[in-house]
Amino acid sequence: MIYSAEDTAQIERLIRISKEKPLLPETFIPWEEPEQEHHVFLPEQLVSLVGLPIYETLSVAQKRELARREVTQALYAYCWSEGLFSVFMTRYIQDKMPDDLERRFLLCEIIEESRHQEMFAATIKKLGRSPLPVTGFQQWFGGFAVRICPADFAFISCLTVEMLADRYGEHLRQETGIFPVLQKISQLHNIEEARHIIFTKALLKHYTDGAGFLRRSWYSIVVLFNIRFFLGTYVRTEIYRDIGLKNPEKVFRQAFPHYRSRFAQECLGTVREFVDSFQGYNFLTRPLWKWVLKM
Ligand SMILES: [Fe+2]
Ligand SMILES: [Fe+2]
Repeated sequence: MIYSAEDTAQIERLIRISKEKPLLPETFIPWEEPEQEHHVFLPEQLVSLVGLPIYETLSVAQKRELARREVTQALYAYCWSEGLFSVFMTRYIQDKMPDDLERRFLLCEIIEESRHQEMFAATIKKLGRSPLPVTGFQQWFGGFAVRICPADFAFISCLTVEMLADRYGEHLRQETGIFPVLQKISQLHNIEEARHIIFTKALLKHYTDGAGFLRRSWYSIVVLFNIRFFLGTYVRTEIYRDIGLKNPEKVFRQAFPHYRSRFAQECLGTVREFVDSFQGYNFLTRPLWKWVLKM
C-alpha cells in the first residue's frame, strides 16, 4: 500500500512509541486489587436481562453472577477476534521484506495484540468463570474467514468485532464503581488500539475505494454476520440456567430479541457509520440488516 510522506512519518513514530513506551499489563493493571461487594462487573445497559420483568426478580447475588458471566463472554469475544486479527496481519505481511514499513509496524501490532489476548485471558481467570465456547459453526466460520476467505473479508470481520469491543470498553471505562481490573484493562486497550487505526483506515480505504456493488454488499453482509456472532457469544441459555433461573430456554427466547434491540441502540452507532462509509446499505443488504437485527 502507498502511504503519504506524512503517514510514513507517523507510522515510524508509532513504531517508536510501541518500542519505547510499551504499556505492559503486568505493571499497568492492578492485578492484586481484591474484588469488593460494591464493584460492578458490567454496566447495566450491557446486561442482557436488564429491562425485562424477570431481571427485577433476581437476587443481588444472581444479578452479580449474570454480570460476571456476561463480561467474561465479552472478554472471550475480544480474545477470539484479536486472535483472528493477528492471523490476518501475519498473512498480510508474509511476503513483505523485513525492512518494509508495514511489516515492521504490523509486527509491533501483533506483539501488542498478543499481549492483549494474554491480558484478557488473565482477567477471565481473575473473574473466576470459564467462558462458554463459541458454537461449532462459529468456530468453523472463524477459521474459514481467516484462512480461506480473501484477506479483505477477514479484515472486515476483525474490524467489526474490534469496533464492538471498543464500544464495550468505553462503557467499562466510564462506569462508576467498576471493578478496577476491568477499568484498567479497558484503558490500556483503548490507548493501544488507537495506534493501529492509521493502518486500518488506510487499508479499509484501499479495499473499499475501487469496490463495486457486489463487493460492497458482501462487506456489509460480513459485518452483519459478525454482529450476529457477537450477540450469539454473549446471550446464552447456559448462563441463565447456571444462575438458577427456571426455564432458561424461555428466558433466552425473551432475552435475545430484547438485548438485540438494546444492543443496536448502545453499540451499533460506529458500525453503522462504518457500513455507510463504504455504501454497504443497498436494496440487497438493507432487508437482511432489518431481518437479522430487527432495526
Ligand atoms: Fe485490536
Ligand atoms: Fe487489542
